[in-house]
Amino acid sequence: MSKNRPNIHTYHKILQREDKEALLQQQSRVIWLTGYSGSGKSTVASSLEKALSRRNFLTQVLDGDNIRAGINNNLGFTEEDRMENIRRIAEVNKLFIHCGIITINSFISPTKKIRAAARQIVGDENFLEVFINAPLEICEQRDTKGLYKKARRGEIKNFTGIDSPFEPPENPDIELKTHLDSIEESIEKALRIILPEITYVRNYH
Ligand code: ADX
Repeated sequence: MSKNRPNIHTYHKILQREDKEALLQQQSRVIWLTGYSGSGKSTVASSLEKALSRRNFLTQVLDGDNIRAGINNNLGFTEEDRMENIRRIAEVNKLFIHCGIITINSFISPTKKIRAAARQIVGDENFLEVFINAPLEICEQRDTKGLYKKARRGEIKNFTGIDSPFEPPENPDIELKTHLDSIEESIEKALRIILPEITYVRNYH
């Protein structure tokens, strides 16, 4: 057998997370944005993705509107359905983590219980919680999708902030106030915490 041929056991071994992180030269993490509809989660997610891509990091954005149009199109907005929505998304995140990819999640994920479930599924050490903290009144004024108006008229039930609760995170890793800071300032602030987490550290063993 040639010297360079891998040992049979190594040859058949499934590539591990570390192998993929080494390939991508990054540490995978779950970046989890939580906040009201209209708080700026999607804007932060896409700007963050661009900023990371410019620095050669491979990311995947997952967000409420596209996930709910596909994989979760059988779920509504009761507490139970929101929990199932987040559970499936967290399981998808786990796959990305094992693939060495950094995910950026943009989901209201309104309760502590729901966010704790997501954290538990992906693992505490992988999870970075980002609170997109714009006050409800501002989100409602923005009403980017016209949904608050409909919720006030009673045309949408269980709307977060109107007739369904939002519990702010108590101790987020990052808090961004999108009504006070520019998007550039918010991204800069987020990168200060995120970059040290995802920068590749060679594992000698
Ligand atoms: S979550 O609560 O389960 O995390 P998710 O982020 O997936 O919610 O979806 C929220 C998006 O669905 C909102 O941005 C909005 O566009 C839409 N939506 C439709 N109905 C509701 C509702 N009752 N409450 C909140 N968002 C709603």
